[in-house]
Amino acid sequence: MTDSPLPGHPQIHYRDGALHVEDVRVADLAALHGTPLFVYSKAAMLAALAAYQRGFAGRRARICYAMKANSTLAVLQLFARAGCGFDIVSGGELARVLAAGGDPAKVIFSGVGKTRAEMQQALVHGIACFNVESAAELDVLNEVALQAGRTAPVSIRVNPDVDAQTHPYISTGLKGNKFGVAHDEALALYRHAAGLEGLRIVGIDCHIGSQITQASPYLDAMDRVLDLVDAIEAAGIRIEHIDFGGGLGIDYGAPDGTEPPGADGLWQQLLARLDARGYGERLLMIEPGRSLVGNAGLCVAEVLYLKPGGQKNFCIVDAAMNDLPRPAMYEAYHRIVPLALRQDAQATAYDVVGPVCESGDWLGRERTLAVQPGDRLAVLSAGAYCMSMASNYNTRGRAAEVLVDGRRATLIRAREDAQAQMRGETLLPD
Ligand code: LLP
Repeated sequence: MTDSPLPGHPQIHYRDGALHVEDVRVADLAALHGTPLFVYSKAAMLAALAAYQRGFAGRRARICYAMKANSTLAVLQLFARAGCGFDIVSGGELARVLAAGGDPAKVIFSGVGKTRAEMQQALVHGIACFNVESAAELDVLNEVALQAGRTAPVSIRVNPDVDAQTHPYISTGLKGNKFGVAHDEALALYRHAAGLEGLRIVGIDCHIGSQITQASPYLDAMDRVLDLVDAIEAAGIRIEHIDFGGGLGIDYGAPDGTEPPGADGLWQQLLARLDARGYGERLLMIEPGRSLVGNAGLCVAEVLYLKPGGQKNFCIVDAAMNDLPRPAMYEAYHRIVPLALRQDAQATAYDVVGPVCESGDWLGRERTLAVQPGDRLAVLSAGAYCMSMASNYNTRGRAAEVLVDGRRATLIRAREDAQAQMRGETLLPD
């Protein structure tokens, strides 16, 4: 038996020429459940979490999984059982945490546009903290809390004005972004918050962007946030926890990509800085999303047609931008590999594209593949921001999802059919 793991994906490997997730042959799952099909490795998710847990060993720290990365119930259940809290951005996400058995007392609520109804729902469930993103939101939260006869635990999201050096759509810590409160306005807002009866200040937070591949933006952000904590506490306001957000990147295997630091290594550096500034004992929070799930998942697609062309060859598959929106949205690179290594087809450069009627519907460009119609391909690094961003565009049902644990595979989401998509719609009366 020959076994070759894919670099960066320890739980995904070829065994005797067939792609496996842990001990399950991906082709068997595709035959059973059809395609497109997301397949996740439980061990890979727990290993990613373990890297953070190692990094924080001996510290007071809470890992709040940023569930927007992948909010499928079974995935949430897995992280809840592993002791994680959750970073949510909507009332819908809170409902999912509750349905998955997560503890609302470990939930933090981020986002620039929380509605009054969402605030009320979160207050009733007793979440740990509202990460407030503007002065206006702070006042509304105070009002909602007073009306509900409760006190809202708050942290102010500070925009540290550092460049996360990532794609502009997923960079959030610069002055020109809609996120957070400007660094030089934060102290005044904390003072204001301290005087509001419906609020209890518990922390401070920042989140500078996503798919960050270097330590330096984190170190810069940490310094800027700690400068503020110095000033806020000097003003007599106690900061119980410091939340450094999420954002750590993963290796997508792009030929020109930068390999991000491991979570444990990154936190070693950050904790050394925290210690040096005297904040090592503080309760720490983080909100990782992609780095916990991204490389734990793949999406299987079947090759429908090969379409040779004068300028380009197209490999048309049955997964599309509605299933895997990242290439269309950010020109993101996802590695694409065959489920079965075959010797008999000619390796050719293809643009791998889906059936959706948009030129932007591509999954990979100029990929050298030896494939025939009927073959199946795996789009790698598809555990984060794929299913959670999937849509029904072109009335395509959302894909099915399977979670693998050793030899066992569990269908955790059934394929969505057309009936399910039309639910809630009505025809006009005569
Ligand atoms: N905390 C906050 C406040 C966030 O806005 C985000 C992500 C996270 C934590 C988690 O960041 P992560 O650890 O996953 O980088 N759809 C884009 C990514 C959008 C990220 C949005 N915010 C993509 O597919 O690349």
